[in-house]
Amino acid sequence: MVYPIPPEIERVLVTQEQIEQRVAELAQQINQDYASVERLYIIGILKGAFIFLADLTRHLTIPHAVDFMALSSYGKTTVSGAVRIIMDVREPLEGQHVLIVEDIVDSGHTLNYLTHLINNRKPASLRTCVLVRKQRNGIDVTIDYLGFTIPDVWVVGYGLDYADRFRTLPYVAELKREVYSAK
Ligand code: IMP
Ligand code: MG
Repeated sequence: MVYPIPPEIERVLVTQEQIEQRVAELAQQINQDYASVERLYIIGILKGAFIFLADLTRHLTIPHAVDFMALSSYGKTTVSGAVRIIMDVREPLEGQHVLIVEDIVDSGHTLNYLTHLINNRKPASLRTCVLVRKQRNGIDVTIDYLGFTIPDVWVVGYGLDYADRFRTLPYVAELKREVYSAK
């Protein structure tokens, strides 16, 4: 299916083909790194990571469980706010090998908060997998598996939204500035 590019889009930054290839590569790396682990506990961060997580996990050949956490988002704006848990994982994480799957790292506050929170639950190991990271001065947070580095602009598609729109575009694209700076 060919998706028309909505008029609110400035330009495509990462194409569908580039995403498909990179997601497969990341999964291969994860398969290798966790080859001797009994079970990997994968936590997708809702809502943004749902598409990335679905594609990534279908390339995994190691035993794994999929779970989700939901955090408060920015709401309708693009200004960073406080982080809050809206929905938690189902299992205790103590002794588990945990992999956080997140859509994007912008300031790094969300991932920083999450890694501290999960580390407090004493997992056997904790790593992070992020589709895109914005090139900007943010918190120095460790990303173990990174898809792409992108410019510091608002992006949508492949799970990423603006005011809950554009999540299902098959690529990652820059939103026109007038769309998000007018509000
Ligand atoms: P951070 O805490 O500043 O790193 O922001 C992380 C969260 O902000 C992500 O999980 C997204 O929900 C949201 N976010 C930041 N930048 C973008 C963007 O360009 N498009 C869509 N969501 C974004
Ligand atoms: Mg998010």
